Amino acid sequence: MVQLPDRIESAAQLDDLLSQPSPALVEQFRHLVGDIAIVGATGKVGPSVVHMTRRAVQESGVPRRILVVARKPTADLIGPGVEPCTCDLLDSHAVAALPRVPNVIYLVGRKFGSTGSESMTWGVNSIAAYHAAHHFRGSRIVAFSTGCVYPVMDLATGGATEATPVAPVGEYAMSCVARERMFDYFADQKLLEVVHLRLNYAVECRYGVLHDLATRIWQGEPVDVTTGYANAIWQGDCCDQALRALSLASSPATILNVTGPETFSIRQVALQLGEILGKEVTFTGQENGLGYLSNASRANGLFGNPRVPLARLVQWVGHWVRQGGTSLGKPTHFETQDGKY
Ligand SMILES: NC(=O)c1ccc[n+]([C@@H]2O[C@H](COP(=O)([O-])OP(=O)(O)OC[C@H]3O[C@@H](n4cnc5c(N)ncnc54)[C@H](OP(=O)(O)O)[C@@H]3O)[C@@H](O)[C@H]2O)c1
Repeated sequence: MVQLPDRIESAAQLDDLLSQPSPALVEQFRHLVGDIAIVGATGKVGPSVVHMTRRAVQESGVPRRILVVARKPTADLIGPGVEPCTCDLLDSHAVAALPRVPNVIYLVGRKFGSTGSESMTWGVNSIAAYHAAHHFRGSRIVAFSTGCVYPVMDLATGGATEATPVAPVGEYAMSCVARERMFDYFADQKLLEVVHLRLNYAVECRYGVLHDLATRIWQGEPVDVTTGYANAIWQGDCCDQALRALSLASSPATILNVTGPETFSIRQVALQLGEILGKEVTFTGQENGLGYLSNASRANGLFGNPRVPLARLVQWVGHWVRQGGTSLGKPTHFETQDGKY
């Protein structure tokens, strides 16, 4: 068990923690067959997946190629054993030119800016997924999806399980169901083995639900508690679970909710952050008991609870914001209940 620090003081320390593979992942990589492609590697989550994969390969002692597929692969992602593949997933010819590998982590997506630009969101979330599914026939794919494919849930339900029927609200969420269905189309015909990773809010110090709350409090803005509850998972745990989920790929597809075990009160966490930040917290709205809430019992039963508990995440993010740590400047809009992004 790795000792978790009380605080994260630098981007280098943060990136190191975010890319730490679990012993179970390293062990799995000793037996995994074939090379691996990380598709959509330049977003918020992709770089952590790339660096964790590199470390897991190194620690496993079994060399394998890691392909970083992106429109513009950045130099920080490339290194020994890690090869860039420049590719716009909307361009079928470019996708057809990609090397075919047995293991794929698929992170391509579009969310923000969807309102007013719906066709682009549908294009990225469905056409690109179709191209990938078609090209990587015969492979195992862990396809990042979202808890937003479920309906907005009442707190009393305990959150959506994998058995909860999809009922997407708004065009972004609908297009995410389309993304899943593109992979399902091939998985149902036994042409592809798939895991849909329905993620609810990866968090790290520079973005995420906790960062959004801390930033608001630091700036003296009120916290709206209408969406009064949320789930979150340390991005390092999310990446670890995503890579370990390669062993669960199946046809038809497996569905896996990925988030932390805690459904937390925004109000309570805001007060904890306020203490760390030395700021008084003010609130607007009133909890309506609804939110995008997911139940991750299945993933946590398979992998164990995430390595970083909520209380430590709160501590890390609070100190990060207080010390003027960098922000990606990408708010999550976790409070949205009407599906408009
Ligand atoms: N982060 C979360 O908390 C969260 C929560 C729920 C679900 N998810 C899902 O997890 C996935 C990864 O999340 P994220 O936060 O890293 O998303 P993100 O920051 O929006 O990154 C999306 C990635 O998709 C790539 N992309 C978009 N269009 C592309 C195209 N035409 N060709 C090639 N690449 C393209 C982007 O590349 P560029 O850099 O070139 O734009 C970027 O690397 C997303 O699909 C999202 O649905 C994330």
